[in-house]
Parts: sequence; structure tokens; C-alpha cells
Amino acid sequence: MARVNGRRIIVGVTGGIAAYKSAELVRRLRRKGAEVRVVMTASAVEFITPLTMQALSGNPVHTSLLDSSAEAAMGHIELARWADAVLVAPASANFLARMAHGLADDLLATLCLATEAVVFVAPAMNRVMWAHPATQHNCQVLEQCGVKLLGPADGEQACGETGAGRMLEVEQLLDALSNHWQQGPLAGCRLLLTAGPTREAIDPVRYISNHSSGKMGYAVAEAAVDAGAEVVLVSGPTALACPSGVECLAVETTAEMSEAVKARAENCQIFIATAAVADYRPAAVQAKKIKKDTAVLLLSLERTEDVLSQVAARPDKPFCVGFAAETNDLEKYAQDKMQRKGLDMIAANLVGDGLGFNAPDNALTVLWSGGKQEIPRADKGIVARALITLIAERYHAQSSS
Ligand code: PMT
Repeated sequence: MARVNGRRIIVGVTGGIAAYKSAELVRRLRRKGAEVRVVMTASAVEFITPLTMQALSGNPVHTSLLDSSAEAAMGHIELARWADAVLVAPASANFLARMAHGLADDLLATLCLATEAVVFVAPAMNRVMWAHPATQHNCQVLEQCGVKLLGPADGEQACGETGAGRMLEVEQLLDALSNHWQQGPLAGCRLLLTAGPTREAIDPVRYISNHSSGKMGYAVAEAAVDAGAEVVLVSGPTALACPSGVECLAVETTAEMSEAVKARAENCQIFIATAAVADYRPAAVQAKKIKKDTAVLLLSLERTEDVLSQVAARPDKPFCVGFAAETNDLEKYAQDKMQRKGLDMIAANLVGDGLGFNAPDNALTVLWSGGKQEIPRADKGIVARALITLIAERYHAQSSS
């Protein structure tokens, strides 16, 4: 169930007797480490109170599209963006019909339309309603739109009849969510990654660093989680939140990054060095603030640890992917770095003049022994997904050769 840990899940509740099971679902999701927000339809609150769901989820419950206080706290678009997954359980016949027609006439239906997250629905209704061609057609439409149908199960129904239409049990719903995140080209793979800059102190108030924002590395971490990997991210100082489903370790200096990476490199199958690590640090850190009493100040610098080369030199070396940040002769320098550092792959990007560092987008030239692929300029999230797909392909090709 590790895949549910740290995920942001919206539980949508529609009107139906099975709504009592969604209280247990929310409780179990929280116990598995998921962050849960509950959205209820007007009919759902007739079956179970928002107060119960609020107490179990630990968050205010959202019930209305036009509730200005809830909208101010987290509007429906923010909710739609916040979620890693939406699970509507129970999903009534009416809700499935509205969703299949793309209606946005209440908060839950609007949210399902507005989210890019995966949407699961767990139908629950009388067996005749379930078997009705209209419901079956609606479910087919939803599946064609990428909605994942969970159940329903066969069995005794609240109305006293027996047949298909029971909502799946909570355990089965939890398994379905967990399985969803266990699929993907990097399923079961432990992946370690560095991101952001490092900072090397000059004196108590000054340091040497660079313009890395961490955006590229964090996007790669997210893409790796989505591809099913178990991800540990060692990050220098950034303004970014730890991506959901990722274990983040915060460091400041290159020495700290090197130690954190060494401590987690064992048993990892893939290492990706996205961090812009300082190559030099002051040979001595001044204990007191340096006074500006000379026209010229000379700093003596020493080389830092090369985090990536250290991992690539391990006897249990993982599949190693480096980045190369270059202002010119991109491919030539990247090839050289790949060979010098003993890498399996290198992702080279042009930097400077607003490119690469702290930019929302990026373009990569990815090289490996005997191969090359261009990933065209796009948002770093899109570039990261393309890179992870390529890494997964090369990693599997190498492990099976
Ligand atoms: O963080 P963003 O603002 O989104 O910007 C992204 C980025 C431009 C920082 C990123 O795409 C990138 O290029 N990262 C690598 C930057 C870098 O330091 O490149 P390099 O060519 O100097 O280093 C080569 C490789 O060795 C890199 O994988 C680097 O992480 C690694 N390295 C370098 C020095 C060192 N002491 N230890 C290392 O591990």
C-alpha cells in the first residue's frame, strides 16, 4: 500500500446507502498516509454528515460549487489541480449519467471535469438500474474518456434484491488505488535523484551558489513516481514543496548532498543527477563576516565532492543519468562528461540567457552509448515525462542485455 502514502486523494461521495462505507474509506486512506479531501453532493449529505467526513479526513468538507468561504479557502479549480486522484464512491446512476454527459452542475461533477488527475468511480445502485442500457452506455462513455470503473460487485443489495450493483468493499477500493500507482514502466524500481543548487558558505552571511530553482529535478521526481518508481529526492535549497509520493531529504552543501546520496544509494536501481552542484567551495569558511576593507578580495577555493561520479564508481553502480548544463558546444561537452563520469546516459541542456536555470521550460539532448534523442522545448513537466520514458526504456534494455 506504499503507493497511497503521501498521495492527495479526493473522495467524492454521491447519494446512496453505500455512503456509509466512504467514511471507512476515508479513515483507511488517512491511515495509509494519504491526504484526503472530501467532496459531497447534495444527496450524499442526506446519507452521511459532512461533519463525520470532516472529522475523518481532517479537512473541511466541500459541498457546494458556490460556497464562497470554501471557494476562498480552496476553489474548485485548485481542488482539481491539488488531487493526484479522484475516487467517487459511491457513484450513483445519476452521477454517472451527469458525468458521461460532461455536466458541470455541482461541485463534484465540475471537479471531475476540471481535473487532470486520474478519476475512479465505484458505482453503487440497484441491480436493475445498473443493468439498464442507459447506465451501461454511460459507463462505456466514461471508460472511453479514461475514467476507471471499479466494480460494482455482485451480491445482496440494500433494497433486498440480489445481483450486480453493490459498491466494492473498502479493501478492494484501496487495492485498486494502490495497483494504479504500482503500474508503469518503472514499477518496483527504487530511484534516487538530486535537484536544486548547493550552497557553500564563505562566511556566516555569504555563500557561493547558482540559479537552479529545482524545477527540473522536482518535475523528474514527479514523473518517476507517476511511472511507478519509489523515489528519494535529495534536494538543495529551493522554494518548492516536496512532490507527493516522493521522500525528500533537504541538504544545503555539496558535502551534505554527497553524504545523503551515499546513505541512500545502496539498493537503488537508477540515479539521476539533476542538481546544479557547486564545483568549488571556499577552502576555509570565515568565522566572522568578512569586512569590505580591501579593494580586491581573493577567495581561495577547493574542489567539492563529485556526487555523480561517486555513485557511478560504486561496485553496485545503479543506472546513472547525469545532466550537462552548457552555454556552448552542448553535445561535445556532454559526451565528454558522460565518458569521464562513467554514466549510462546524459541529458544536456543549454543554459544562460534565460535558458535552463529557473525557467519554466527546457529542451534536452539526451545521449547514451550509441544513441541520441532530442526532447523539444516544452514545460519542464512534459520534458521530465519524456525523459523518464527514455530512461525506463534504456534501463530495461541494459538490464536485459
Ligand atoms: O533547477 P532548475 O532551475 O529547473 O534548472 C535545471 C538545471 C539547468 C539546473 C538542470 O537542467 C541541469 O542542467 N542540471 C545540472 C547542472 C550542472 O551542474 O551541470 P554540470 O554540467 O556542471 O554537471 C554535470 C553533472 O554532474 C550533473 O548531473 C551534476 O548534477 C553532477 N555534478 C556536478 C558537480 C558535482 N560536484 N557533483 C555532481 O554530482
